Amino acid sequence: MRGCLALALALLATPVGARATDGEYLFHAAGCLACHTREGGQPLAGGRPLETPYGVFYTPNISPDPATGIGNWSRAQFIQALKHGTAPDGSAYYPAFPYPSYRLMTDQDAASLFDYLRTTPAQHQANREHDLPWWLARWMMRLWQWWVLDEPPPEPAAVRADPLLSRGRYLVDALGHCGECHTPRNWLGVSIRTRYLAGNAAGPDGDKVPNITPDRGSGIGKWDADDLEYFLESGQLPNGDYAGSLMTEVIDNATSKLTADDRRAMTAYLRSIRALPGG
Ligand code: HEC
Ligand code: HEC
Repeated sequence: MRGCLALALALLATPVGARATDGEYLFHAAGCLACHTREGGQPLAGGRPLETPYGVFYTPNISPDPATGIGNWSRAQFIQALKHGTAPDGSAYYPAFPYPSYRLMTDQDAASLFDYLRTTPAQHQANREHDLPWWLARWMMRLWQWWVLDEPPPEPAAVRADPLLSRGRYLVDALGHCGECHTPRNWLGVSIRTRYLAGNAAGPDGDKVPNITPDRGSGIGKWDADDLEYFLESGQLPNGDYAGSLMTEVIDNATSKLTADDRRAMTAYLRSIRALPGG
Protein backbone atom coordinates (compact mmCIF):
# COMPACT_ATOMS: atom_id res chain seq x y z
CA MET A 1 0.00 0.00 0.00
CA ARG A 2 2.78 2.40 0.92
CA GLY A 3 4.50 1.42 -2.29
CA CYS A 4 1.39 2.34 -4.22
CA LEU A 5 1.17 5.69 -2.52
CA ALA A 6 4.83 6.43 -3.17
CA LEU A 7 4.33 5.44 -6.79
CA ALA A 8 1.27 7.66 -7.13
CA LEU A 9 3.22 10.58 -5.68
CA ALA A 10 6.18 9.92 -7.94
CA LEU A 11 3.85 9.88 -10.91
CA LEU A 12 2.29 13.14 -9.87
CA ALA A 13 5.71 14.71 -9.50
CA THR A 14 6.81 13.57 -12.98
CA PRO A 15 3.71 13.19 -15.12
CA VAL A 16 3.78 10.04 -17.21
CA GLY A 17 5.06 10.96 -20.65
CA ALA A 18 6.67 14.17 -19.43
CA ARG A 19 9.72 13.29 -21.49
CA ALA A 20 7.64 12.53 -24.54
CA THR A 21 9.12 15.35 -26.56
CA ASP A 22 12.73 14.70 -25.62
CA GLY A 23 14.16 13.32 -28.85
CA GLU A 24 17.29 11.86 -27.31
CA TYR A 25 15.29 9.99 -24.71
CA LEU A 26 12.98 8.59 -27.38
CA PHE A 27 15.99 7.64 -29.47
CA HIS A 28 17.23 5.42 -26.62
CA ALA A 29 13.81 4.03 -25.78
CA ALA A 30 13.29 3.04 -29.42
CA GLY A 31 16.72 1.43 -29.81
CA CYS A 32 17.72 3.09 -33.10
CA LEU A 33 21.45 3.14 -32.41
CA ALA A 34 22.24 -0.58 -32.24
CA CYS A 35 20.63 -1.49 -35.55
CA HIS A 36 22.02 1.50 -37.41
CA THR A 37 25.63 1.12 -36.26
CA ARG A 38 27.92 -1.66 -37.39
CA GLU A 39 30.50 -3.17 -35.09
CA GLY A 40 33.42 -0.78 -34.82
CA GLY A 41 31.66 1.69 -37.13
CA GLN A 42 30.60 5.30 -36.68
CA PRO A 43 27.32 5.83 -34.83
CA LEU A 44 24.29 5.84 -37.15
CA ALA A 45 26.40 5.37 -40.29
CA GLY A 46 24.61 2.02 -40.86
CA GLY A 47 26.09 -1.07 -42.47
CA ARG A 48 25.16 -3.44 -39.67
CA PRO A 49 24.18 -6.85 -41.03
CA LEU A 50 20.84 -8.23 -39.78
CA GLU A 51 20.57 -11.95 -40.40
CA THR A 52 17.01 -13.10 -41.00
CA PRO A 53 15.45 -16.26 -42.44
CA TYR A 54 14.96 -14.26 -45.68
CA GLY A 55 18.53 -13.07 -46.15
CA VAL A 56 20.90 -10.44 -44.82
CA PHE A 57 19.81 -6.81 -44.52
CA TYR A 58 22.38 -4.02 -44.14
CA THR A 59 21.01 -1.04 -42.29
CA PRO A 60 21.26 2.36 -44.01
CA ASN A 61 23.03 5.49 -42.85
CA ILE A 62 20.59 7.65 -40.85
CA SER A 63 23.08 10.33 -39.81
CA PRO A 64 22.51 13.86 -41.19
CA ASP A 65 25.06 13.49 -44.00
CA PRO A 66 23.30 14.98 -47.06
CA ALA A 67 24.98 12.65 -49.58
CA THR A 68 24.89 9.25 -47.88
CA GLY A 69 22.59 9.79 -44.90
CA ILE A 70 19.23 11.49 -44.44
CA GLY A 71 20.49 15.07 -44.21
CA ASN A 72 18.24 16.20 -47.08
CA TRP A 73 15.08 14.69 -45.70
CA SER A 74 12.16 16.73 -44.45
CA ARG A 75 10.49 15.93 -41.20
CA ALA A 76 7.40 14.74 -43.09
CA GLN A 77 9.50 12.32 -45.16
CA PHE A 78 11.03 10.93 -41.99
CA ILE A 79 7.64 10.37 -40.35
CA GLN A 80 6.43 8.71 -43.54
CA ALA A 81 9.40 6.31 -43.38
CA LEU A 82 9.25 5.56 -39.67
CA LYS A 83 5.50 5.18 -39.32
CA HIS A 84 4.37 4.05 -42.76
CA GLY A 85 7.39 2.24 -44.17
CA THR A 86 7.51 4.45 -47.26
CA ALA A 87 10.72 6.00 -48.59
CA PRO A 88 10.90 9.54 -50.02
CA ASP A 89 10.90 8.07 -53.56
CA GLY A 90 7.64 6.27 -52.78
CA SER A 91 9.10 2.78 -52.52
CA ALA A 92 8.31 0.53 -49.56
CA TYR A 93 10.68 -0.61 -46.85
CA TYR A 94 11.28 -4.17 -45.78
CA PRO A 95 9.91 -4.88 -42.32
CA ALA A 96 13.44 -5.66 -41.10
CA PHE A 97 13.03 -1.95 -40.32
CA PRO A 98 10.50 -2.34 -37.49
CA TYR A 99 7.98 0.21 -38.75
CA PRO A 100 5.12 -2.21 -37.99
CA SER A 101 5.92 -1.31 -34.35
CA TYR A 102 6.99 2.29 -34.84
CA ARG A 103 3.71 3.10 -36.59
CA LEU A 104 2.17 3.13 -33.10
CA MET A 105 4.34 6.12 -32.21
CA THR A 106 2.72 9.54 -32.05
CA ASP A 107 3.63 11.98 -34.85
CA GLN A 108 4.94 14.31 -32.19
CA ASP A 109 7.40 11.72 -30.91
CA ALA A 110 8.47 10.83 -34.44
CA ALA A 111 9.11 14.52 -35.12
CA SER A 112 11.16 14.83 -31.92
CA LEU A 113 13.24 11.86 -33.00
CA PHE A 114 13.91 13.54 -36.32
CA ASP A 115 14.96 16.77 -34.62
CA TYR A 116 17.32 14.82 -32.39
CA LEU A 117 18.89 12.86 -35.27
CA ARG A 118 19.60 16.21 -36.91
CA THR A 119 21.87 17.12 -34.00
CA THR A 120 24.06 13.98 -34.30
CA PRO A 121 27.35 14.12 -36.25
CA ALA A 122 27.07 13.55 -40.02
CA GLN A 123 28.82 10.34 -41.14
CA HIS A 124 29.86 9.92 -44.73
CA GLN A 125 29.33 6.25 -45.52
CA ALA A 126 27.50 4.83 -48.52
CA ASN A 127 24.75 2.30 -47.96
CA ARG A 128 25.33 -1.33 -48.74
CA GLU A 129 22.84 -3.38 -50.77
CA HIS A 130 20.90 -6.08 -48.96
CA ASP A 131 21.80 -9.66 -49.71
CA LEU A 132 18.39 -11.16 -50.50
CA PRO A 133 17.02 -13.86 -52.80
CA TRP A 134 15.92 -12.48 -56.20
CA TRP A 135 12.24 -13.05 -55.49
CA LEU A 136 12.25 -10.79 -52.46
CA ALA A 137 12.17 -7.59 -54.52
CA ARG A 138 11.41 -4.21 -52.97
CA TRP A 139 8.25 -3.70 -55.02
CA MET A 140 6.78 -6.75 -53.31
CA MET A 141 6.96 -4.95 -50.00
CA ARG A 142 4.23 -2.58 -51.19
CA LEU A 143 1.98 -5.59 -51.74
CA TRP A 144 3.02 -6.95 -48.38
CA GLN A 145 2.05 -3.67 -46.71
CA TRP A 146 -1.33 -3.64 -48.45
CA TRP A 147 -2.33 -7.24 -48.19
CA VAL A 148 -0.37 -8.91 -45.45
CA LEU A 149 0.41 -6.37 -42.74
CA ASP A 150 -2.63 -6.23 -40.49
CA GLU A 151 -3.96 -3.21 -38.63
CA PRO A 152 -2.36 -2.72 -35.23
CA PRO A 153 -4.70 -3.92 -32.49
CA PRO A 154 -6.49 -1.11 -30.63
CA GLU A 155 -5.40 -0.31 -27.11
CA PRO A 156 -7.46 -2.49 -24.73
CA ALA A 157 -9.95 -0.42 -22.71
CA ALA A 158 -8.46 -1.50 -19.37
CA VAL A 159 -5.03 -0.31 -20.52
CA ARG A 160 -6.36 2.97 -21.85
CA ALA A 161 -8.10 3.63 -18.55
CA ASP A 162 -4.85 3.35 -16.56
CA PRO A 163 -2.12 5.91 -17.35
CA LEU A 164 0.62 3.65 -15.97
CA LEU A 165 -0.39 0.68 -18.13
CA SER A 166 -0.96 2.89 -21.13
CA ARG A 167 2.51 4.41 -20.84
CA GLY A 168 3.92 0.90 -20.35
CA ARG A 169 2.24 -0.37 -23.47
CA TYR A 170 3.53 2.59 -25.47
CA LEU A 171 7.07 1.89 -24.27
CA VAL A 172 6.81 -1.85 -24.95
CA ASP A 173 5.00 -1.76 -28.30
CA ALA A 174 5.60 1.57 -30.02
CA LEU A 175 9.11 2.44 -28.83
CA GLY A 176 10.77 -0.70 -27.43
CA HIS A 177 9.33 -2.90 -30.23
CA CYS A 178 9.73 -5.89 -27.88
CA GLY A 179 7.32 -7.95 -29.98
CA GLU A 180 9.58 -7.77 -33.04
CA CYS A 181 11.72 -10.38 -31.29
CA HIS A 182 9.49 -11.86 -28.58
CA THR A 183 6.37 -12.53 -30.69
CA PRO A 184 6.57 -15.32 -33.27
CA ARG A 185 5.79 -14.58 -36.93
CA ASN A 186 3.72 -16.44 -39.47
CA TRP A 187 5.25 -17.59 -42.76
CA LEU A 188 4.58 -14.19 -44.29
CA GLY A 189 6.64 -12.46 -41.63
CA VAL A 190 3.74 -10.94 -39.68
CA SER A 191 3.65 -11.12 -35.89
CA ILE A 192 1.02 -13.60 -34.70
CA ARG A 193 -1.24 -11.54 -32.49
CA THR A 194 -2.63 -14.47 -30.51
CA ARG A 195 0.95 -15.32 -29.49
CA TYR A 196 1.76 -11.79 -28.32
CA LEU A 197 5.15 -11.84 -26.53
CA ALA A 198 4.90 -15.62 -26.01
CA GLY A 199 8.39 -16.33 -27.35
CA ASN A 200 9.88 -16.94 -30.75
CA ALA A 201 11.81 -20.06 -31.69
CA ALA A 202 13.25 -18.34 -34.78
CA GLY A 203 14.30 -14.88 -33.63
CA PRO A 204 16.88 -12.56 -35.22
CA ASP A 205 20.32 -14.10 -35.76
CA GLY A 206 18.66 -17.51 -35.30
CA ASP A 207 18.24 -16.93 -31.56
CA LYS A 208 15.50 -18.51 -29.53
CA VAL A 209 13.69 -15.63 -27.83
CA PRO A 210 11.92 -16.41 -24.53
CA ASN A 211 8.27 -16.07 -23.55
CA ILE A 212 7.81 -12.85 -21.53
CA THR A 213 4.10 -13.18 -20.77
CA PRO A 214 3.12 -13.74 -17.11
CA ASP A 215 2.77 -17.50 -17.64
CA ARG A 216 4.23 -19.23 -14.57
CA GLY A 217 5.58 -22.22 -16.45
CA SER A 218 7.22 -20.92 -19.60
CA GLY A 219 6.97 -17.15 -19.14
CA ILE A 220 8.09 -14.77 -16.42
CA GLY A 221 5.08 -15.30 -14.14
CA LYS A 222 7.31 -16.27 -11.23
CA TRP A 223 9.26 -13.02 -11.36
CA ASP A 224 8.01 -10.30 -9.08
CA ALA A 225 7.78 -6.69 -10.19
CA ASP A 226 11.15 -5.79 -8.65
CA ASP A 227 12.82 -8.66 -10.53
CA LEU A 228 11.57 -7.36 -13.84
CA GLU A 229 12.34 -3.72 -13.14
CA TYR A 230 15.84 -4.64 -12.05
CA PHE A 231 16.31 -6.82 -15.10
CA LEU A 232 15.34 -3.96 -17.42
CA GLU A 233 17.80 -1.72 -15.61
CA SER A 234 20.74 -4.11 -15.29
CA GLY A 235 20.16 -7.20 -17.44
CA GLN A 236 20.44 -9.41 -14.39
CA LEU A 237 18.03 -12.35 -14.21
CA PRO A 238 16.45 -13.38 -10.87
CA ASN A 239 18.88 -16.35 -10.71
CA GLY A 240 21.88 -14.01 -10.86
CA ASP A 241 22.84 -14.72 -14.49
CA TYR A 242 22.84 -11.98 -17.09
CA ALA A 243 20.81 -11.83 -20.29
CA GLY A 244 22.86 -12.65 -23.34
CA SER A 245 22.77 -12.21 -27.11
CA LEU A 246 20.57 -9.48 -28.55
CA MET A 247 18.88 -8.72 -25.26
CA THR A 248 22.18 -7.26 -24.00
CA GLU A 249 21.86 -4.52 -26.60
CA VAL A 250 18.28 -3.82 -25.64
CA ILE A 251 19.32 -3.42 -22.01
CA ASP A 252 22.46 -1.38 -22.71
CA ASN A 253 21.03 0.96 -25.33
CA ALA A 254 17.41 1.19 -24.35
CA THR A 255 15.88 0.02 -21.09
CA SER A 256 18.83 0.91 -18.80
CA LYS A 257 18.62 4.49 -20.12
CA LEU A 258 14.97 4.96 -19.23
CA THR A 259 13.68 6.64 -16.10
CA ALA A 260 12.77 4.35 -13.20
CA ASP A 261 9.17 5.48 -13.72
CA ASP A 262 9.20 4.27 -17.30
CA ARG A 263 10.69 0.90 -16.32
CA ARG A 264 7.97 0.64 -13.69
CA ALA A 265 5.33 1.37 -16.32
CA MET A 266 6.75 -1.31 -18.66
CA THR A 267 6.83 -3.79 -15.80
CA ALA A 268 3.24 -3.07 -14.77
CA TYR A 269 2.10 -3.47 -18.37
CA LEU A 270 4.02 -6.69 -19.00
CA ARG A 271 2.60 -8.18 -15.83
CA SER A 272 -0.93 -7.26 -16.96
CA ILE A 273 -0.94 -8.95 -20.37
CA ARG A 274 -2.44 -12.35 -21.08
CA ALA A 275 -0.33 -15.28 -19.86
CA LEU A 276 0.35 -17.69 -22.72
CA PRO A 277 2.01 -21.06 -22.26
CA GLY A 278 4.68 -22.44 -24.57
CA GLY A 279 7.15 -20.59 -26.74
C1 HEC B 1 15.81 -4.03 -35.95
C2 HEC B 1 16.73 -3.08 -36.58
C3 HEC B 1 16.30 -1.66 -36.76
C4 HEC B 1 15.91 -0.76 -35.77
C5 HEC B 1 15.73 -1.04 -34.29
C6 HEC B 1 15.73 0.50 -36.44
N1 HEC B 1 15.95 0.38 -37.78
FE1 HEC B 1 15.87 1.88 -39.12
N2 HEC B 1 16.10 0.52 -40.63
C7 HEC B 1 16.43 -0.80 -40.47
C8 HEC B 1 16.57 -1.44 -41.77
C9 HEC B 1 16.93 -2.89 -42.04
C10 HEC B 1 16.31 -0.43 -42.74
C11 HEC B 1 16.32 -0.58 -44.26
C12 HEC B 1 14.96 -1.08 -44.75
C13 HEC B 1 14.91 -1.25 -46.25
O1 HEC B 1 15.95 -1.16 -46.92
O2 HEC B 1 13.82 -1.47 -46.78
C14 HEC B 1 16.04 0.79 -41.98
C15 HEC B 1 15.73 2.01 -42.57
C16 HEC B 1 15.58 3.19 -41.86
C17 HEC B 1 15.36 4.48 -42.48
C18 HEC B 1 15.31 4.76 -43.98
C19 HEC B 1 16.67 5.24 -44.44
C20 HEC B 1 16.82 5.42 -45.93
O3 HEC B 1 17.92 5.79 -46.36
O4 HEC B 1 15.88 5.17 -46.68
C21 HEC B 1 15.24 5.39 -41.47
C22 HEC B 1 15.01 6.89 -41.61
C23 HEC B 1 15.38 4.68 -40.23
N3 HEC B 1 15.59 3.34 -40.50
C24 HEC B 1 15.33 5.26 -38.99
C25 HEC B 1 15.28 4.54 -37.80
C26 HEC B 1 15.01 5.14 -36.51
C27 HEC B 1 14.80 6.61 -36.26
C28 HEC B 1 15.00 4.13 -35.61
C29 HEC B 1 14.66 4.19 -34.12
C30 HEC B 1 13.35 4.77 -33.86
C31 HEC B 1 15.29 2.90 -36.35
N4 HEC B 1 15.46 3.20 -37.66
C32 HEC B 1 15.37 1.65 -35.77
C33 HEC B 1 16.58 -1.46 -39.26
C34 HEC B 1 16.30 -0.92 -38.01
C1 HEC C 1 16.49 -7.82 -30.85
C2 HEC C 1 15.64 -8.81 -30.24
C3 HEC C 1 15.00 -8.47 -28.90
C4 HEC C 1 14.28 -7.36 -28.56
C5 HEC C 1 13.94 -6.15 -29.43
C6 HEC C 1 13.87 -7.54 -27.20
N1 HEC C 1 14.35 -8.72 -26.70
FE1 HEC C 1 14.10 -9.43 -24.78
N2 HEC C 1 15.26 -11.02 -25.24
C7 HEC C 1 15.82 -11.31 -26.47
C8 HEC C 1 16.61 -12.52 -26.36
C9 HEC C 1 17.39 -13.17 -27.51
C10 HEC C 1 16.52 -12.95 -25.03
C11 HEC C 1 17.21 -14.17 -24.40
C12 HEC C 1 18.53 -13.69 -23.87
C13 HEC C 1 19.39 -14.82 -23.37
O1 HEC C 1 19.38 -15.89 -24.00
O2 HEC C 1 20.07 -14.62 -22.36
C14 HEC C 1 15.66 -11.99 -24.34
C15 HEC C 1 15.32 -12.05 -22.99
C16 HEC C 1 14.42 -11.22 -22.34
C17 HEC C 1 13.95 -11.40 -20.97
C18 HEC C 1 14.38 -12.50 -20.03
C19 HEC C 1 13.37 -13.62 -20.08
C20 HEC C 1 13.83 -14.89 -19.44
O3 HEC C 1 12.96 -15.73 -19.12
O4 HEC C 1 15.04 -15.11 -19.29
C21 HEC C 1 13.05 -10.39 -20.73
C22 HEC C 1 12.28 -10.14 -19.45
C23 HEC C 1 12.98 -9.58 -21.94
N3 HEC C 1 13.82 -10.12 -22.89
C24 HEC C 1 12.19 -8.45 -22.08
C25 HEC C 1 12.20 -7.63 -23.20
C26 HEC C 1 11.50 -6.37 -23.29
C27 HEC C 1 10.62 -5.77 -22.21
C28 HEC C 1 11.78 -5.86 -24.54
C29 HEC C 1 11.34 -4.53 -25.12
C30 HEC C 1 11.86 -3.37 -24.44
C31 HEC C 1 12.65 -6.80 -25.21
N4 HEC C 1 12.88 -7.85 -24.37
C32 HEC C 1 13.12 -6.61 -26.50
C33 HEC C 1 15.66 -10.57 -27.63
C34 HEC C 1 15.04 -9.33 -27.72
